[in-house]
Amino acid sequence: MKKKGLFITFEGIDGSGKTTQYNLLRGRLRRRGLDPVCVREPGSTVVGEEIRSILLSSDDRPMTLLTEALLYAAARSQLVREVIVPALEGGKVVLCDRFLDSSLAYQGYAGGLGVDTVMAVNAAAVRGIRPHLTLVFDLSVSEALRRERGRKADRIESRGAEYLQRVREYYLELARKEPDRVRVIPAARDIAEIEADVYREVSEGLAALGIDGRG
Ligand code: TMP
Repeated sequence: MKKKGLFITFEGIDGSGKTTQYNLLRGRLRRRGLDPVCVREPGSTVVGEEIRSILLSSDDRPMTLLTEALLYAAARSQLVREVIVPALEGGKVVLCDRFLDSSLAYQGYAGGLGVDTVMAVNAAAVRGIRPHLTLVFDLSVSEALRRERGRKADRIESRGAEYLQRVREYYLELARKEPDRVRVIPAARDIAEIEADVYREVSEGLAALGIDGRG
């Protein structure tokens, strides 16, 4: 099956500002006359949102790292089949706040489950779907923690700075390995400057696919 749309994913450590930029890009593409399909992980399907509440609740029910990875993969599988594949086949632009790279970074690398194991767990879930463009919002862990203070401090602080440092390292290494797909966006700047970088990267992707919009 030929995938005609453009699949863009947003990645970064907690507090990197990626969701703000995802929302800004969504608005900008709409103003351009495009109708992007916007989803987040885990979630954006009925069962995916239920899985999200299990995964992101701050109570301390015991959960092995493999169980965690399987739950993220289950939510992803539902999202890929129910939303992402149909949208791409329909020629849409799909914006996804986190995707497979998050599992590789958080569970695989930082958590210690192993990148290969997480890849294996996800193989059937993603069905060969790969983002055309992945934006990594890069910020120091200390700045990210400062921004997050008071918001979702429980979860972040329970993971700790070292864990997030490893997540950040994974993303930067990924960008070195896959420079065509993965672009690092320095995120310790003005929101408007970051937005301009994001829009430039995305516009190049749209132009390459001949997707234009009205405006
Ligand atoms: P967010 O809503 O701030 O993006 O938070 C989602 C959290 O879930 C974030 O701490 C990262 C985590 N996460 C994983 O650990 N693995 C995954 O595969 C995904 C999608 C998210």
